[in-house]
Amino acid sequence: MSLLNAKGQNDSVSPDLLVSGWFDKIAKKSNQPMKKALVTGASGFIGSFLVEHLLAAGYQVKVIIRTSSSLEWLADLDVECLYGRLDDRQLLERAVRDVDYIFHLAGKTRAQTDRSFYEINYKLTKNLLEIVSRSNPGLKKFTYLSSFAAAGPSRTIDPVTEEDSPAPVSSFGKSKLATERLFFNNPPVFPFVILRPALVFGPRDRVSLQFFRLLNKSVIPQINGMDHYVSLIYVKDLVNALLAAAESEETNQKIYFVAAPKAYSVSELSRLTLILLGKKGFRLHVPHKFLAGYANFKNVLHGFFKGQGNLNSDLVNELKYSFWICSSAKFQEELPFSEFHSMEESLQETIDWYSGYGWL
Ligand SMILES: NC(=O)c1ccc[n+]([C@@H]2O[C@H](COP(=O)([O-])OP(=O)(O)OC[C@H]3O[C@@H](n4cnc5c(N)ncnc54)[C@H](OP(=O)(O)O)[C@@H]3O)[C@@H](O)[C@H]2O)c1
Repeated sequence: MSLLNAKGQNDSVSPDLLVSGWFDKIAKKSNQPMKKALVTGASGFIGSFLVEHLLAAGYQVKVIIRTSSSLEWLADLDVECLYGRLDDRQLLERAVRDVDYIFHLAGKTRAQTDRSFYEINYKLTKNLLEIVSRSNPGLKKFTYLSSFAAAGPSRTIDPVTEEDSPAPVSSFGKSKLATERLFFNNPPVFPFVILRPALVFGPRDRVSLQFFRLLNKSVIPQINGMDHYVSLIYVKDLVNALLAAAESEETNQKIYFVAAPKAYSVSELSRLTLILLGKKGFRLHVPHKFLAGYANFKNVLHGFFKGQGNLNSDLVNELKYSFWICSSAKFQEELPFSEFHSMEESLQETIDWYSGYGWL
């Protein structure tokens, strides 16, 4: 089913535009060939920002979403929605046929079992790549959003680079690495680029929200009495990077880390955030074992209710490691790319948004 906007309304466009070829008719009207993009994972945190960014950049955007997907962030956007599953071959064939760019963001970030990470992150990508190869071999670029987790943590304060051998420590990371390898073991005929973002934060994100909520209660979490060091990226910088990577020929058939130029210790990040929140904080030491037990308990609970918590065993496993620092120097130099919000600005915007939505 093809609809004109995420609300399923077609009030602003005549009904004849609802038939296939909708993109071309709009393009003809403006006498300009508009670039067409397909986004998977559009209902999610990063995907919804990417859709907004593409529209602002003048793209025509199609999204594939499940009937169960929340339309909270897409409802007011002028996008073509295809409802269905990402393993529906007929739907995918229709979806990919006439687009110039594909941004594949759909993925499982939390799951109960290794198998479900693999089923979604690996198998759906493999399926999609096969269909694009057959139905749209002339695609300008396929952009896959992998993760820093595919590479695994850094051993020291020295950042991990693209040259280091990947050593993922979580099931999520392993599924992302296996997916990355699909692209190189059996290269598609069309250009692709893979981005490995560091920890992404910003408005709409329910995962980092937990950290902001603790700080808002003046609690600075410290696991096993150690400080953690992390690379981060603000969601608006990431979607900017995604589009820049897609449009550049320099990035063809390559992998890049993307992260803000400076890494932070959790203490430093907490201090900055507390200042912006206008709060004072106290350290709460949390033994890693306690966190692991709590996550296991939540896994059982969520498994029982068929849901997924934000804190799960896989994520807790990643928290065992103190250094999650990557370098995005290669990305910044080769594109080149240098447009990052300052950390203060990114945190402030995030806090303002969380507060405005009553999430804090
Ligand atoms: N957030 C981060 O810090 C971070 C860091 C590195 C990489 N990434 C990667 O960025 C991508 C987007 O992450 P996010 O933070 O935006 O996550 P998110 O908010 O959980 O969004 C995930 C998206 O994937 C879709 N999805 C999940 N399982 C699916 C399935 N079986 N079939 C079809 N669609 C499915 C979801 O659709 P529904 O709405 O229908 O569930 C949603 O649109 C993921 O690939 C993730 O691995 C995220």
